[in-house]
Formats: sequence, structure tokens, C-alpha cells
Amino acid sequence: MPANVVVIGSLNMDLVTRAPRLPNGGETLIGHSFATVSGGKGANQAVAAARLGAQVAMVGCVGNDAYGVQLRDALLAEGIDCQAVTTVEDSSGVALIVVDDNSQNAIVIVAGANGAMTPAVIDRFDAVLQAADVIICQLEIPDATVGYALKRGRELGKIMILNPAPASRPLPADWYSSIDYLIPNESEAAALSGLPVDSLAAAERAASHLIAMGAGKVIITLGAQGSLFANGTGFEHCQAPTVKAVDTTAAGDTFVGGFAAALASGKAESEAIRFGQVAAALSVTRAGAQPSIPVLSDVQGFKSA
Ligand code: RIB
Repeated sequence: MPANVVVIGSLNMDLVTRAPRLPNGGETLIGHSFATVSGGKGANQAVAAARLGAQVAMVGCVGNDAYGVQLRDALLAEGIDCQAVTTVEDSSGVALIVVDDNSQNAIVIVAGANGAMTPAVIDRFDAVLQAADVIICQLEIPDATVGYALKRGRELGKIMILNPAPASRPLPADWYSSIDYLIPNESEAAALSGLPVDSLAAAERAASHLIAMGAGKVIITLGAQGSLFANGTGFEHCQAPTVKAVDTTAAGDTFVGGFAAALASGKAESEAIRFGQVAAALSVTRAGAQPSIPVLSDVQGFKSA
């Protein structure tokens, strides 16, 4: 069956240390544990969409190392089409992650093979894009490729989602008209808009700014506070279910993948947002990136505390 959700983005091996707290500069801490876990924002979103009901294809690059084999195998095990996951002469992307006892994390990524995602790769797998209903991009591959993919998806008339993560700067102005759903978190919304996002009212101002830039609709994820949806005519604040957080890694990815899967299955926007939020809430109750992502029956069976 052709994929109805296509994810264009990164695959990383996450090297995860749990420690009592995040270290200060120059400090050595004694950690509790270490694990290698399949991750990368693109791959996590692909796994989320697949576990939550979509037919998914991934467009990305891995290195010709052991991590590359594991990262591809992890997607294949989810039934994700990996014909457009290319192995290149480089190390696979890695993310060095520290998670503290309050479930906060700090992450450093090294792009490795993700840097080989050029516009030519998008051209090579144009047929994969053509088969999609929904296409998702993030910012862990070169900007030029993200911009190219957004424009191609727009030409093809696909529903285009950009999760601008990680973001520390405004997006190129000419990207906005190719984005149907822009899904930043609070700090990304602040970086993109140049406005503080420290309250619901501030999030509304930032979302309005991003819509004025040309984005179709904006969903700002607000962590435990849920999300703010803006469509240019109004706002909807969707409360998050209350859960006990263990590890917030990939919560945003789970929201994006879940939202995309729900949208591709024909759910209305507000229902898709609620679905994504329940999936993300469940993911924070479990450790790791891909291992934390729930399956459809978990979300359907979820009862708020
Ligand atoms: O969003 C979480 C992801 O960010 C991790 O899996 C890590 O790989 C980084 O890309």
C-alpha cells in the first residue's frame, strides 16, 4: 500500500545518560544509567505516525556503520517503507542526551549522514512524495533541502507540515507559503517570531505573527499546558492530559507524528490535535525516544486521571 504519510528528515542514534541533574560547564557527574536508543526527529515522527495508524515512508540518510543498520532496521520493524533511506559514506547521526531526575533533558546532535540529505535526494525519491497525502519535515537536515522539499510538496498539492525543530533563528521568509501546519514548541515559536512566548496570550501573539508571515495554520505545543491552535481567524487552547513524566524526549515528535496520522486518516483538525496530545502525554511516561512512542490501542484506551 502506498504511504499516506511521508517523513523527510533525520535518523540519529541516541546515546542516553540518566543523571541526577544536568551537568554545569566543566563539571563531571556520576550518572545512573546509559543506553543507545533509536531516535532522530524525522525517524521518531515516522515511528509515531506508523504506530498510530498511518502507512509511512521515510526519506533520509544513515551512515555505513552499525548504527546505520540499527536505525534502518528499527523503522523496518514498524512496517515503514525505507526504500528512500540511503546509506552514505559517513557516520550515522548521533544525539548525546542527558536526562535528569526531573525528566528534563539536554541534547547535542551531530548530523553525520543527515548532512548528506541534499535536494538531489528529494528529486531521486519524487515518486515517494507523489504518493503521499501528508508530508512532514523538521530541521535536522540541511535547510536548503527542507526548503526544496517544502516547495516540491506544495507543487504536488500535499498537506505540508513543518516541525521547526531544533530552531534558534527565523525561518527563510519564502518557506511560509509552502507550510499548511507549522508546529513549533514555545522556544521555537519565540525564535521564529522574535517574540517572547511565556504565556497563552504571548503564544497567541507569536502564532498570529507566524500566520502573518504566510503559514497556513500554527500549532504551538506548550508541554504540560497542551497546545495552542491558530488558523488566522481564531485560537483554540487544547489542555494536555495530566501524567507523571519520566522522560520528555520525543514528546514533540510523537505529537507531530500522531497529528499527521490522524489528519491522514480523515480526522478533523481539533480531533487530530487531541489525539496527538494524548499520544505525546503517553510518551512522556516512558523512557527513550522511539521506545516511548505509544501504539494506537494505547491512545484509544487512554483515560484521563
Ligand atoms: O526530538 C527528540 C530527538 O531529538 C532525539 O531522538 C534526538 O535524536 C534528537 O534528534
